[in-house]
Amino acid sequence: MADSLFSSEPVSLRPWEPDDLDLLRAMNTEAMWAHLGGPEGDAKVVARHYRYLDAVPGETRMFSIVHGPHKVGSIGYWMRRHHAEDLFETGWMVLPAWQGRGFATEAAKLVLAILGEDIGSGLVHAYPSVHHPASNAVCQKAGFEWRGVVQVEFPEGQFMDVNDWVHDVEVPSGSYARRERHASR
Ligand SMILES: CC(C)(COP(=O)(O)OP(=O)(O)OC[C@H]1O[C@@H](n2cnc3c(N)ncnc32)[C@H](O)[C@@H]1OP(=O)(O)O)[C@@H](O)C(=O)NCCC(=O)NCCS
Repeated sequence: MADSLFSSEPVSLRPWEPDDLDLLRAMNTEAMWAHLGGPEGDAKVVARHYRYLDAVPGETRMFSIVHGPHKVGSIGYWMRRHHAEDLFETGWMVLPAWQGRGFATEAAKLVLAILGEDIGSGLVHAYPSVHHPASNAVCQKAGFEWRGVVQVEFPEGQFMDVNDWVHDVEVPSGSYARRERHASR
Protein backbone atom coordinates (compact mmCIF):
# COMPACT_ATOMS: atom_id res chain seq x y z
CA MET A 1 0.00 0.00 0.00
CA ALA A 2 1.28 3.51 -0.75
CA ASP A 3 2.10 5.37 2.45
CA SER A 4 2.23 9.11 2.69
CA LEU A 5 3.82 10.93 5.60
CA PHE A 6 4.04 14.59 6.53
CA SER A 7 6.94 15.04 8.92
CA SER A 8 8.70 17.42 11.20
CA GLU A 9 10.62 16.42 14.31
CA PRO A 10 9.44 14.71 16.48
CA VAL A 11 6.20 13.60 14.84
CA SER A 12 4.77 12.63 11.47
CA LEU A 13 1.19 12.69 10.28
CA ARG A 14 -0.01 9.63 8.44
CA PRO A 15 -3.32 9.61 6.57
CA TRP A 16 -5.90 7.56 8.49
CA GLU A 17 -5.61 3.84 7.71
CA PRO A 18 -7.91 0.81 8.09
CA ASP A 19 -5.85 -0.50 11.04
CA ASP A 20 -6.17 2.78 12.98
CA LEU A 21 -9.46 1.69 14.60
CA ASP A 22 -7.45 0.37 17.58
CA LEU A 23 -5.96 3.83 18.08
CA LEU A 24 -9.43 5.38 18.07
CA ARG A 25 -10.59 2.81 20.64
CA ALA A 26 -7.51 3.43 22.82
CA MET A 27 -8.32 7.15 22.82
CA ASN A 28 -12.01 6.62 23.69
CA THR A 29 -11.60 7.01 27.46
CA GLU A 30 -13.08 9.23 30.17
CA ALA A 31 -9.76 11.06 30.50
CA MET A 32 -9.40 11.77 26.78
CA TRP A 33 -13.04 12.84 26.33
CA ALA A 34 -13.36 14.82 29.56
CA HIS A 35 -13.66 18.09 27.61
CA LEU A 36 -15.62 16.57 24.73
CA GLY A 37 -18.77 15.31 26.39
CA GLY A 38 -17.50 11.87 27.48
CA PRO A 39 -16.49 8.73 25.56
CA GLU A 40 -18.59 7.36 22.71
CA GLY A 41 -20.23 3.95 22.40
CA ASP A 42 -18.31 1.49 20.23
CA ALA A 43 -20.74 1.78 17.29
CA LYS A 44 -20.05 5.52 17.19
CA VAL A 45 -16.30 4.90 17.38
CA VAL A 46 -16.50 2.52 14.43
CA ALA A 47 -18.61 5.02 12.46
CA ARG A 48 -16.06 7.72 13.28
CA HIS A 49 -13.28 5.42 12.00
CA TYR A 50 -15.04 5.00 8.65
CA ARG A 51 -15.59 8.77 8.39
CA TYR A 52 -11.88 9.28 9.06
CA LEU A 53 -11.03 6.86 6.24
CA ASP A 54 -13.19 8.86 3.84
CA ALA A 55 -10.79 11.74 3.23
CA VAL A 56 -11.58 14.50 0.75
CA PRO A 57 -8.51 16.78 0.58
CA GLY A 58 -9.67 20.39 0.82
CA GLU A 59 -12.78 19.34 2.79
CA THR A 60 -11.93 16.78 5.45
CA ARG A 61 -8.76 14.84 6.28
CA MET A 62 -7.76 12.87 9.37
CA PHE A 63 -4.31 11.64 10.32
CA SER A 64 -2.69 9.53 12.98
CA ILE A 65 0.15 11.26 14.80
CA VAL A 66 3.17 9.00 14.65
CA HIS A 67 6.32 9.13 16.78
CA GLY A 68 8.92 6.60 15.63
CA PRO A 69 7.09 3.26 15.54
CA HIS A 70 4.31 4.50 17.87
CA LYS A 71 0.87 5.86 17.01
CA VAL A 72 0.45 8.54 19.65
CA GLY A 73 -2.71 10.39 18.66
CA SER A 74 -4.95 11.85 15.98
CA ILE A 75 -5.43 15.19 14.26
CA GLY A 76 -7.17 16.53 11.21
CA TYR A 77 -9.31 19.20 9.64
CA TRP A 78 -12.93 19.22 8.59
CA MET A 79 -15.67 21.68 7.64
CA ARG A 80 -18.15 22.90 10.24
CA ARG A 81 -21.27 25.01 9.76
CA HIS A 82 -21.21 27.72 12.42
CA HIS A 83 -23.81 30.52 12.49
CA ALA A 84 -24.70 29.94 8.81
CA GLU A 85 -21.04 30.05 7.78
CA ASP A 86 -18.96 27.12 6.50
CA LEU A 87 -15.54 27.12 8.07
CA PHE A 88 -12.58 24.84 8.63
CA GLU A 89 -12.02 23.39 12.07
CA THR A 90 -9.10 21.41 13.43
CA GLY A 91 -8.78 19.26 16.56
CA TRP A 92 -6.22 16.95 18.16
CA MET A 93 -5.72 14.14 20.66
CA VAL A 94 -2.54 12.67 22.13
CA LEU A 95 -2.59 9.52 24.27
CA PRO A 96 -1.81 10.24 27.95
CA ALA A 97 1.50 8.31 27.87
CA TRP A 98 2.79 10.72 25.21
CA GLN A 99 1.42 14.02 26.45
CA GLY A 100 3.56 16.97 27.57
CA ARG A 101 6.27 16.47 24.92
CA GLY A 102 5.07 19.07 22.42
CA PHE A 103 3.57 16.43 20.09
CA ALA A 104 0.13 18.07 19.76
CA THR A 105 1.75 21.44 19.03
CA GLU A 106 4.01 20.01 16.32
CA ALA A 107 1.12 18.04 14.83
CA ALA A 108 -0.99 21.23 14.78
CA LYS A 109 1.74 23.07 12.83
CA LEU A 110 1.87 20.19 10.36
CA VAL A 111 -1.88 20.07 9.84
CA LEU A 112 -1.91 23.83 9.19
CA ALA A 113 0.75 23.35 6.51
CA ILE A 114 -1.19 20.46 4.97
CA LEU A 115 -4.40 22.50 4.89
CA GLY A 116 -2.41 25.30 3.24
CA GLU A 117 -1.29 22.86 0.56
CA ASP A 118 -4.84 21.58 0.13
CA ILE A 119 -6.79 24.85 -0.05
CA GLY A 120 -4.17 27.50 -0.94
CA SER A 121 -5.26 30.03 1.66
CA GLY A 122 -8.01 30.53 4.20
CA LEU A 123 -8.83 30.45 7.88
CA VAL A 124 -9.01 27.51 10.23
CA HIS A 125 -10.58 27.54 13.69
CA ALA A 126 -9.94 25.49 16.83
CA TYR A 127 -12.55 25.42 19.63
CA PRO A 128 -11.11 24.08 22.88
CA SER A 129 -13.30 24.27 25.95
CA VAL A 130 -12.61 27.32 28.09
CA HIS A 131 -11.83 24.81 30.87
CA HIS A 132 -9.10 22.98 28.91
CA PRO A 133 -5.70 24.63 29.58
CA ALA A 134 -3.60 22.08 27.63
CA SER A 135 -5.55 22.40 24.38
CA ASN A 136 -5.69 26.20 24.67
CA ALA A 137 -1.90 26.15 25.21
CA VAL A 138 -1.51 24.12 22.00
CA CYS A 139 -3.47 26.79 20.07
CA GLN A 140 -1.31 29.55 21.46
CA LYS A 141 1.97 27.71 20.86
CA ALA A 142 0.96 26.78 17.29
CA GLY A 143 0.37 30.46 16.50
CA PHE A 144 -3.44 30.67 16.56
CA GLU A 145 -5.00 34.05 17.35
CA TRP A 146 -7.66 34.25 20.08
CA ARG A 147 -10.97 35.71 18.87
CA GLY A 148 -13.14 35.34 21.98
CA VAL A 149 -15.51 32.88 23.64
CA VAL A 150 -18.32 31.26 21.64
CA GLN A 151 -20.74 28.39 22.17
CA VAL A 152 -20.54 25.23 20.08
CA GLU A 153 -22.80 22.20 20.03
CA PHE A 154 -20.76 19.06 20.68
CA PRO A 155 -21.78 16.34 20.96
CA GLU A 156 -25.22 16.85 19.41
CA GLY A 157 -27.59 18.45 21.90
CA GLN A 158 -24.86 19.63 24.31
CA PHE A 159 -23.59 23.19 24.23
CA MET A 160 -20.28 24.29 25.69
CA ASP A 161 -18.30 27.50 26.02
CA VAL A 162 -15.16 27.33 23.93
CA ASN A 163 -12.39 29.68 22.95
CA ASP A 164 -12.43 30.57 19.26
CA TRP A 165 -8.81 30.38 18.03
CA VAL A 166 -8.13 31.23 14.39
CA HIS A 167 -5.13 30.69 12.12
CA ASP A 168 -4.48 31.90 8.59
CA VAL A 169 -3.28 29.08 6.42
CA GLU A 170 -1.29 29.52 3.25
CA VAL A 171 0.73 27.40 0.87
CA PRO A 172 3.91 26.63 2.84
CA SER A 173 6.87 28.45 1.28
CA GLY A 174 9.66 26.23 2.52
CA SER A 175 8.15 22.89 3.08
CA TYR A 176 7.31 22.75 6.76
CA ALA A 177 5.23 19.70 6.02
CA ARG A 178 7.78 17.51 4.34
CA ARG A 179 5.94 14.98 2.26
CA GLU A 180 7.50 11.58 1.92
CA ARG A 181 6.08 8.99 -0.36
CA HIS A 182 7.09 5.43 0.23
CA ALA A 183 6.76 2.74 -2.34
CA SER A 184 4.84 -0.35 -1.42
CA ARG A 185 5.38 -1.89 1.97
C1 LIG B 1 -4.81 18.60 24.46
C2 LIG B 1 -3.77 17.55 24.16
C3 LIG B 1 -3.91 17.09 22.72
C4 LIG B 1 -2.36 18.16 24.36
O1 LIG B 1 -1.40 17.20 23.89
P1 LIG B 1 0.16 17.36 24.25
O2 LIG B 1 0.91 16.57 23.22
O3 LIG B 1 0.37 17.03 25.67
O4 LIG B 1 0.37 18.91 24.00
P2 LIG B 1 1.78 19.68 23.96
O5 LIG B 1 2.80 18.90 24.70
O6 LIG B 1 2.04 20.06 22.54
O7 LIG B 1 1.42 21.02 24.74
C5 LIG B 1 0.66 20.98 25.90
C6 LIG B 1 0.86 22.33 26.56
O8 LIG B 1 -0.18 22.48 27.48
C7 LIG B 1 0.36 22.88 28.67
N1 LIG B 1 -0.50 22.43 29.73
C8 LIG B 1 -0.83 21.16 30.04
N2 LIG B 1 -1.66 21.16 31.10
C9 LIG B 1 -1.81 22.45 31.46
C10 LIG B 1 -2.50 23.11 32.51
N3 LIG B 1 -3.25 22.42 33.38
N4 LIG B 1 -2.42 24.47 32.57
C11 LIG B 1 -1.70 25.17 31.68
N5 LIG B 1 -1.01 24.60 30.66
C12 LIG B 1 -1.08 23.26 30.58
C13 LIG B 1 1.70 22.19 28.73
O9 LIG B 1 2.52 22.80 29.69
C14 LIG B 1 2.18 22.38 27.33
O10 LIG B 1 2.76 23.65 27.15
P3 LIG B 1 4.38 23.86 27.30
O11 LIG B 1 5.00 22.99 26.25
O12 LIG B 1 4.54 25.31 27.01
O13 LIG B 1 4.73 23.44 28.67
C15 LIG B 1 -3.91 16.33 25.12
O14 LIG B 1 -3.93 16.81 26.45
C16 LIG B 1 -5.15 15.50 24.85
O15 LIG B 1 -5.17 14.67 23.95
N6 LIG B 1 -6.22 15.69 25.62
C17 LIG B 1 -7.43 14.87 25.45
C18 LIG B 1 -8.12 15.11 24.12
C19 LIG B 1 -8.54 16.55 23.95
O16 LIG B 1 -9.14 17.12 24.84
N7 LIG B 1 -8.20 17.12 22.78
C20 LIG B 1 -8.49 18.51 22.52
C21 LIG B 1 -9.87 18.73 22.07
S1 LIG B 1 -10.15 20.48 21.86
